[in-house]
Amino acid sequence: MSGSMQSICALADVPDGGGLEAAPAILVLRRGDEAWAYRNMCPHFSIPLNYEPDAFWTYDGGLLMCAHHSAMFRFEDGACIDGPCLGASLVRVPIRIENGHVLIDDENPA
Ligand code: FES
Repeated sequence: MSGSMQSICALADVPDGGGLEAAPAILVLRRGDEAWAYRNMCPHFSIPLNYEPDAFWTYDGGLLMCAHHSAMFRFEDGACIDGPCLGASLVRVPIRIENGHVLIDDENPA
């Protein structure tokens, strides 16, 4: 049921264990060969998760910290497991990884 897929970055562009804003307001997180994408918006105050371009704070290749009030989100499901929005989640953007590229559905705009 998906429309055409479009590459937003190469998997290798995303630091292993870190994050990259690969398209406007879309954050890609990576661990090894796996990647997940979310809207770059903290559920706490609905503002971007980073202060500076592509400066995402991550820990142990598995947790992303919001730069504002230190909410911690799991790479795998975007769930906030610590901080002021505990229990809330980042908004998932479905992606597919193909031939080393991170693909996003064209019809799922940021
Ligand atoms: S805006 Fe992200 S923790 Fe407050």
